Amino acid sequence: MDFLNIANLRYSCRDFDPNRTVEREKLQKIVEAGILSPSACNGQPYHFTVCEGEVAKKVAKCTTDVGINKFAYDVPVMLVISEEPYTKMAAMGAKLKHNDYRSIDIGIASAYITAEAASLGVDSCILGWINDEQIRDICDIKGAARLVIALGYAKEPKLRPKKRKSVEEMVTFKK
Ligand SMILES: Cc1cc2nc3c(=O)[nH]c(=O)nc-3n(C[C@H](O)[C@H](O)[C@H](O)COP(=O)(O)O)c2cc1C
Repeated sequence: MDFLNIANLRYSCRDFDPNRTVEREKLQKIVEAGILSPSACNGQPYHFTVCEGEVAKKVAKCTTDVGINKFAYDVPVMLVISEEPYTKMAAMGAKLKHNDYRSIDIGIASAYITAEAASLGVDSCILGWINDEQIRDICDIKGAARLVIALGYAKEPKLRPKKRKSVEEMVTFKK
């Protein structure tokens, strides 16, 4: 499938079917896409924890404070992306260039993961409203949890038109 088709297909699903989980073969391809994503100095300063069953439910609870992300309780698979240490080279670059490469790397990995999910017909939603401390405890991870990617199948797939700023607003071509 052409990449722009995948980009148009992917959307943030907030109405998951709690009775339909994601096949293991598809989860393997989804994490493989995350591993193939580029990162500063190829440092891959992140870890993926794929949570299913009761663990997914516990992680869901960590994404719902003040009534946000209520749909998370129906999500069968919660993929937690947590930080790992920088390589020496990337740490030096981040310091010298005052740039948070690790967050950028995690963002790119999320894009690859959700794009691969979309190409496999798996619905997803990136969740940034999360309780890092609680997730670390549940998943037994040391690095800060930065994003959770909800994966599953929509009760009723709905392709809504993309709401985006115009090309004129977003892009400047210079010669
Ligand atoms: C870093 C990040 C954090 C996000 N956090 C949440 C979240 O906590 N809950 C939610 O419902 N959507 C969340 N989203 C999804 C965005 O709201 C969504 O991508 C955006 O509105 C564009 O819609 P689309 O994904 O359907 O194209 C997040 C997206 C990103 C990239």
